Amino acid sequence: MKERILKELNQNRRSFISGQYLSDRLGISRTAVWKYINALKKQGYEIEAIPNKGYRLVTSPDVLIAEEVYPLLKTSVLGRKVIHSEKLASTSLLAKEIAPQQQEGTVVIAEEQTGGRGRLGRKWYSPRGGGIWASLILKPRIRPEKAYQLTQVAAVAVVKAIKETTGVSAGIKWPNDIIINGKKVCGILTEMNAEADAVNHIILSIGLNVSPGQEDMPPDLRDKMTFLDVECGFSVSRKGLLAALLGELERVYFKFLEQGFEAVAEDCRRFSVLLGREVRVEQMDRVFQGRAVQITGDGALLVQTAEGRVEVISGDVSVRGVYGYL
Ligand code: BTN
Repeated sequence: MKERILKELNQNRRSFISGQYLSDRLGISRTAVWKYINALKKQGYEIEAIPNKGYRLVTSPDVLIAEEVYPLLKTSVLGRKVIHSEKLASTSLLAKEIAPQQQEGTVVIAEEQTGGRGRLGRKWYSPRGGGIWASLILKPRIRPEKAYQLTQVAAVAVVKAIKETTGVSAGIKWPNDIIINGKKVCGILTEMNAEADAVNHIILSIGLNVSPGQEDMPPDLRDKMTFLDVECGFSVSRKGLLAALLGELERVYFKFLEQGFEAVAEDCRRFSVLLGREVRVEQMDRVFQGRAVQITGDGALLVQTAEGRVEVISGDVSVRGVYGYL
């Protein structure tokens, strides 16, 4: 119901609409209208209320609740259901728990995460309102061994959404980091639940830093992480960015499902910050160095070492920069 009231208020932003009009139109009492208006105010909506005139929406908060995101969405599957929380330990943990009962494309979002999880057991800094902390529930009909390619599918979508929303050109540090000016602005975490030959669901999580806000970033992150606001010099609307991200992701995801990874690989190469650079690859059982020479049609990174070419499909890759390996 709140969503319908907001829709009415949004459609009439220039004028007042009366409580009676809302009550007739939505089939609820005027007291109920008043209660919903108060609930919206609590969520950060600035609503002018004048006796005998009615209500007028003045400003909306940049929160990622369904009512704010739905009107901006141009997708048919992704984000059609948004589950929003003010605070969660981790969106990916909740998404995993509820995935079996949810439709494909459901997105779990939190304004703040108290136990944000990164790859390889690392922590993910997720201050309140500081970014998009989101986990998508996907149910693709692909073989489990192809699931790792989804990380790069998402990476391409993030780069395109950043360009579309801010004009900034970001790059991909294979396979899951999005980089601007040598610093990480976004990380992607792909987790799968599968049988031997079929995927049950995949939780595709995205942590996209938007605004550093008032909170102090942990000192060890300061040189490595950045925020979109800082890089583009203006305040980025998180809801607009989320809608752009889901739109791009749906396009790239459907292309991947219909045509295979090869159809996405060219964008991965085009946006790569690794190709042609000296890299160090850390895997469970070994560490080696070489030159990143190609991303294959399967999404593997080819590294030319002194001993020959190595095809990398997992691991932590760092690139040799001015200050050593970043
Ligand atoms: C990485 O680069 O290490 C991946 C970071 C993924 C962070 C996101 S934020 C939303 C979701 N919930 C989590 O706890 N982690 C992922």
